[in-house]
Amino acid sequence: MLGKTLLFDCENLHSVEKGCIRPSNLEADGLTAKLIDLGFMQGAIYETIVSTANPDGSPNAAPMGVRMQDEQTLSLTLFNLSNTALNLKANHLGVINLTNNIELFYKTAFKETNPDGKLPSQWFIKTKSAAAPKLRDADATVDFSVIKMEPIGEKTTVLCRVEQVNASKSYPKVYCRAKALTLEAIIHATRVQAFANEPSKQAEAKKLKETITNYNDIVNRVAPNSVYTRIMADLMQKITLWRAKS
Ligand SMILES: Cc1cc2nc3c(=O)[nH]c(=O)nc-3n(C[C@H](O)[C@H](O)[C@H](O)COP(=O)(O)O)c2cc1C
Repeated sequence: MLGKTLLFDCENLHSVEKGCIRPSNLEADGLTAKLIDLGFMQGAIYETIVSTANPDGSPNAAPMGVRMQDEQTLSLTLFNLSNTALNLKANHLGVINLTNNIELFYKTAFKETNPDGKLPSQWFIKTKSAAAPKLRDADATVDFSVIKMEPIGEKTTVLCRVEQVNASKSYPKVYCRAKALTLEAIIHATRVQAFANEPSKQAEAKKLKETITNYNDIVNRVAPNSVYTRIMADLMQKITLWRAKS
């Protein structure tokens, strides 16, 4: 019933063309309705995958948190040395990819888990206007241009102007706790990796590892033999290796 209501509302709001839903009032009213349609609210951080072009033109993608500042402006906070930050500094264009595919988060965060340690080029589609590629599997994409980059310590705040929003028609996804816990574990693991060689951060790293171990137990209980348990097993193994090296 709820699904039907939502579909009806969507059809009222949008014209549907070739798998893309575009707001029929895009020109007149800007992008407010569209970002809100995608679930953006001011203040919250949303986990997305940001794709950019590397200096040699190859595609890059990495999970990044995004905030909506206003209806046409989003912001990112990036580590200065991330490829995403460097690419945005160089060409000022990127794409925010919305996806529920946790494996994509994992493989774009830990690029070494891919064949040859590189993101497969077939995961991406080239865009006409933007220099930045899009993820083929994204449920929605937000093309953006950089308005301003402001370095603060080891991070840079990036203010982004929304240039275009596209959404695919996809079925609603049933909720499994393993999804959120696995994503949380991936985020924690990126920190554990970063802390591996920092003696002053070992207490923090230990706490994160305990949390990941707890998540691993729950994931194995609620989604046995799934993509989530495979990612968690991989993460647990990585964490052991990082500890052995440090
Ligand atoms: C869900 C998730 C959210 C993340 N958010 C951010 C973020 O907001 N800023 C950041 O610099 N790194 C973030 N990271 C870590 C980066 O994705 C990670 O360091 C990645 O390897 C950077 O890749 P790049 O060098 O290709 O940009 C996040 C990781 C995950 C899993």
